[in-house]
Amino acid sequence: MAQYLVTAGPTWEALDPVRFLSNRSSGRMGFALAAALQHRGHEVVLVHGPVALTVPTGVRALPVESALEMLAACQSVWSACDGVFAVAAVADYRPKEPQQSKIKRHPNQGLVLELAPNPDILGTLAAVKGSRLAVGFALETEHGEAEAWRKLEAKNLDFLVLNGPEAQGAEQSQVQLFAVGGKVCPLGPLPKDELAAQLLQHILPADS
Ligand code: CTP
Repeated sequence: MAQYLVTAGPTWEALDPVRFLSNRSSGRMGFALAAALQHRGHEVVLVHGPVALTVPTGVRALPVESALEMLAACQSVWSACDGVFAVAAVADYRPKEPQQSKIKRHPNQGLVLELAPNPDILGTLAAVKGSRLAVGFALETEHGEAEAWRKLEAKNLDFLVLNGPEAQGAEQSQVQLFAVGGKVCPLGPLPKDELAAQLLQHILPADS
């Protein structure tokens, strides 16, 4: 039995007390993976952004909002984990200076937002992973395969799961699993819980 860290869902990047920048991630794939890992007898810490999902029984959840909070939560548990599955759709940028009070509407004036880059959470964890497992998920609209190989190397990963944009918010998903060393395996289309189980059969074959 091992302990795995799973990140899931979107992040919310505050503009002001009532508004945020985010994306269409539902968190379903990350939650399905957390449940599948737990089902195999592993301990799971699920660091997740705002989602409308129930935490699987037996899984320890650390809910967060922003990418900075997600990084801090992940770093607080990473040294105790044997691997990470980074399924979260982390916002790449955040408003540089979130406003303390609500931004008012000025009917005759546009609004320019200045954004600051967020840290690469998976890249940060995987840079110090040693022999631990690091699995990334990527959603690409073009040059998917080239981007998958590039991210696998750039982020120091063991596996990268490539999704098409139709996976966002959907019940089913079809992916390609890229393994360091050059193997590619197509999986699906399958409901996300079945896909999670199949991914684990390839990534953690010693379990089964
Ligand atoms: N990821 C992360 N922190 C970020 C961005 C991405 O942990 N700030 C993780 C995701 O959870 C995923 C993997 O990195 O497992 C790839 O995410 P993706 O958004 O495809 O990568 P980016 O480096 O943001 O590349 P892109 O320019 O294509 O958005």
